[in-house]
Amino acid sequence: MIDRVADAVSRAVDACRPEVAGADPVVRRSTHADFQSNVSLSLAKRLRVAPGALAAEVASAVEVAGLPIVSVETSGPGFLNLAVSDRAVWQQVALRLADDRLGVAASEHGRRTVIDYSAPNIAKEMHVGHLRTTIIGDSLARVLEFLGADVIRQNHLGDWGTQFGMLIQYLDEHPDARWRRDDLGAQGASAVSALDALYKAARAEFDSDVAFAERSRARVVALQAGDRATLARWSEIVSESEEAFADIYDRLGVLLTADDSVGESFYNPMLVDTIEELVGKGIAVESDGALVVFSEEVDGPGGRPVPLMVRKSDGGYGYDTTDLATIRYRITELGARRLLYVTDSRQALHFRLIFETARRAGWLTDDIDAAHIAYGTVLGPDGKPFKTRAGGTVRLTELLDEAVAKARDVVADKDPALPAAELENIAEQAGIGAVKYADLTTSRVKDYTFDLDRMIAFNGNTSVYLQYAHTRIRSILRRAGEPTATVDVDLPLEPAERALALELDAYGSTIAEVAGTLEPHRLCGYLYDLARDFTAFYDNCPVLTAAEPVRGNRLALCGLTAATLAHGLALLGIAAPERM
Ligand code: ARG
Repeated sequence: MIDRVADAVSRAVDACRPEVAGADPVVRRSTHADFQSNVSLSLAKRLRVAPGALAAEVASAVEVAGLPIVSVETSGPGFLNLAVSDRAVWQQVALRLADDRLGVAASEHGRRTVIDYSAPNIAKEMHVGHLRTTIIGDSLARVLEFLGADVIRQNHLGDWGTQFGMLIQYLDEHPDARWRRDDLGAQGASAVSALDALYKAARAEFDSDVAFAERSRARVVALQAGDRATLARWSEIVSESEEAFADIYDRLGVLLTADDSVGESFYNPMLVDTIEELVGKGIAVESDGALVVFSEEVDGPGGRPVPLMVRKSDGGYGYDTTDLATIRYRITELGARRLLYVTDSRQALHFRLIFETARRAGWLTDDIDAAHIAYGTVLGPDGKPFKTRAGGTVRLTELLDEAVAKARDVVADKDPALPAAELENIAEQAGIGAVKYADLTTSRVKDYTFDLDRMIAFNGNTSVYLQYAHTRIRSILRRAGEPTATVDVDLPLEPAERALALELDAYGSTIAEVAGTLEPHRLCGYLYDLARDFTAFYDNCPVLTAAEPVRGNRLALCGLTAATLAHGLALLGIAAPERM
């Protein structure tokens, strides 16, 4: 509906002012009418006319016949207030309800989109620092896939580097070290903890024993030279880690699978070619024995251009080199038309330099969109980056356990009669959902405080509130015997019905906005408003006790609201249980 109203205003503007044809009609939902257009205010200056006069001109040019619009009025300094017919609103409800896409168009048209997210480091445990990339990246993958993008997920695992020499050497010298999940028996789920412990032990020996450090360095050389035994050990470590990551992904309900794992090591064979191309094009240059790309856009301290490290002076390749080979591969081999990198804001400069270099090399052309999806830090109760009481990093598994335990208490408190197995299920869905929602609902670039009490509450802007709203509506529908929707389009609309129906109509434009801005919090805000509009509707308009045909229409609104809430939660990667 909002699109049809916007089209009508556009056509009116084009008709009376052809010189600005195609201008944005600036149509929004409004509290004063069904919709409002600010087009006169936005164009008045350019056209050198008074906005009020322009509004009147456009208003009389809006064609009403055959459209959902029934009235156009000017108000204030130059607003247009537009009202749509009750019939058009009911028709819209019926159409959406009959469509499993809920009326949302597949606007991405198969655009090949590479999303780089999660990317934990092998042999280290996933911690709170991996939460946001994993959750935000996954939600964007779901939204863009729903809109018809050809999404390629890439888990850029940190599976290469000098630390592997140390780990492999340590394992060889300590054959009794217990670090595999099989070694751990029943506690197998915490295999990465064992790997983490291994990492710490190896690190300690490396730092305190010069001879061991020396042997470890030789081991890195062996790894890079492709020594068989060394490589075999390396892949054992990688797969142990990956299995533990998979457990966390399963529990979090994220889409990443082993097929999406394309770690740093994958790009090793491409590094030399990539560098040669950059040198050949005069982009990478020698500087103090190293090979670097000096930025033409960003100045560093003292006004000197900031360098990107292509090859270190010792001949080694690092994070920068790998990302250059990666972007080249994603564009030229994977055929990406859009590249998204979901990492924290501290990597902003890194990606700016990678994109600049890729542009200069001719890989990243104007028709390809590359973006760093930056996000802020998760803070602890003290307002500082979240740490354990002892000052260590917070393990993700522990964090999720705590959230589920809290959810179990909150849910059991609300419904003490829930059977144990069902309680367990709901607690998992509510606890995990709450962690994800709290992360997604703050605007990406901001930091937020990890506060389980606030996150897991039946009131306020939480996933528990949304999940609960969904279960309430589902229970109404069950009590009504799961009616097949029949909408009588000739019924008048009550104000609360109208507000709810128009909010439901905004689902498509909200998702399009998320895809455009890559900001999932807009979908969270929408779902929260929708749940509140539903509450207002339910308080004012009896459903089950109403007489037909009013009852049928209200049940249709219930059905569409439940479907929209469940669909929206699914795009955030959050479950919508039937009961809680
Ligand atoms: N493993 C890296 C880290 O933990 C993130 C990798 C992000 N992706 C990339 N292509 N650089 O910080």
